[in-house]
Amino acid sequence: MHLTELQAANLRCFTEFSLTPVSGVNLLLGENGAGKTSIIEAIHILGYGRSFRGRIRDGLIKQGASALQITTRWQDTQGAAHQAGLSHSGNDWQARQDGADVDNLSQFCSHFPVLSFEPGSHALISGPAENRRRFLDWALFHVEPGFYAQWRRYNRALKQRNALLKTQPKTETLAAWDHEFAESGEAIHFYRQHYLDRLSPAFQTISREFLPECGTATISYAAGWRQSQMSLLDALRLNRDRDLQTGFCGVGPHRADWQAGLEGQLQQEHFSRGQAKLLALSALLAQAQQFLAEKHFWPILCFDDLASELDSGHFKRVLSWLSGTQTQIWISGTENPPIYTQIFPALKLFHVEQGRISSTQ
Ligand SMILES: Nc1ncnc2c1ncn2[C@@H]1O[C@H](COP(=O)(O)OP(=O)(O)O)[C@@H](O)[C@H]1O
Ligand SMILES: [Mg+2]
Repeated sequence: MHLTELQAANLRCFTEFSLTPVSGVNLLLGENGAGKTSIIEAIHILGYGRSFRGRIRDGLIKQGASALQITTRWQDTQGAAHQAGLSHSGNDWQARQDGADVDNLSQFCSHFPVLSFEPGSHALISGPAENRRRFLDWALFHVEPGFYAQWRRYNRALKQRNALLKTQPKTETLAAWDHEFAESGEAIHFYRQHYLDRLSPAFQTISREFLPECGTATISYAAGWRQSQMSLLDALRLNRDRDLQTGFCGVGPHRADWQAGLEGQLQQEHFSRGQAKLLALSALLAQAQQFLAEKHFWPILCFDDLASELDSGHFKRVLSWLSGTQTQIWISGTENPPIYTQIFPALKLFHVEQGRISSTQ
């Protein structure tokens, strides 16, 4: 699937823009502050219902405007044309697709499998565990039809149980949530663990290509409780007094994590930012490749400021890898080195200036 048109109104510095991308590589070129990231952000929002740059209140809506709109036309994998739009007036998103309101934002986002990579994405390797759980859950949301229902079930049980913990409940009252919590939690764990097993070979291959000097990449996974020793239900029972003391649930898949490491090499804390970026990129592209293997089409790939922190050798390896995909790619940057057109002769170039976009093709 690919976007055939992207429009936005009152998004950051833009009063309005309208782009007609190609199904291959789209290069957004402009100086700092021109609006490149904002365009990538618009695509990301279609796929996630949120920005990678903080909350709506942090300035997504153009200063002085009351609402923002993002609209798009796209072609699905069967070649059928669709249109959809999101608007936000400071409270909530309203979504429409093919002329009808869509109540459920997740349902809207399910049409837009987008993987984006931006300068903060090295946090996938070196940042908080929440980033890594989200990464897994994004894939599972798209590839496992039963996942989302379990995820919702689990999060509801977690919320209820945490609310209850703050009221000094009787053991039986608390135990009433344990079964629901444990059953959905075990299901999420199962999905995540098996997904990581499937992801791992692609991650190893890609990271070997991008970081041949760093040895074999490994993935380790922690379920969020001592899963090899006990069931989640037992872990809940064992942790009950502690949970009552702290007022929140200390075990379960909301505490899960996975770590990427380089075998026999540096500890994660010692990765350079460039290395962390390449490892994060390897994980993201492995995710894209795994998506293809399971869904039979590629997700849209967005790279904001791709060249930053990559030397020309590593940059070339990444672009060469991307040239083997058949998907819509968006890349932003401040410069246009010849390597782009060498590797992607059919790319479409967009010049982004303060609030205006022009294309040459
Ligand atoms: N809510 C807003 N209203 C108006 N302008 C904004 C808002 N938020 C950000 N900007 C401006 O939008 C411009 C584009 O930002 P950005 O997309 O990050 O540019 P780039 O990625 O090209 O460096 C910046 O000059 C920024 O100051
Ligand atoms: Mg930017």
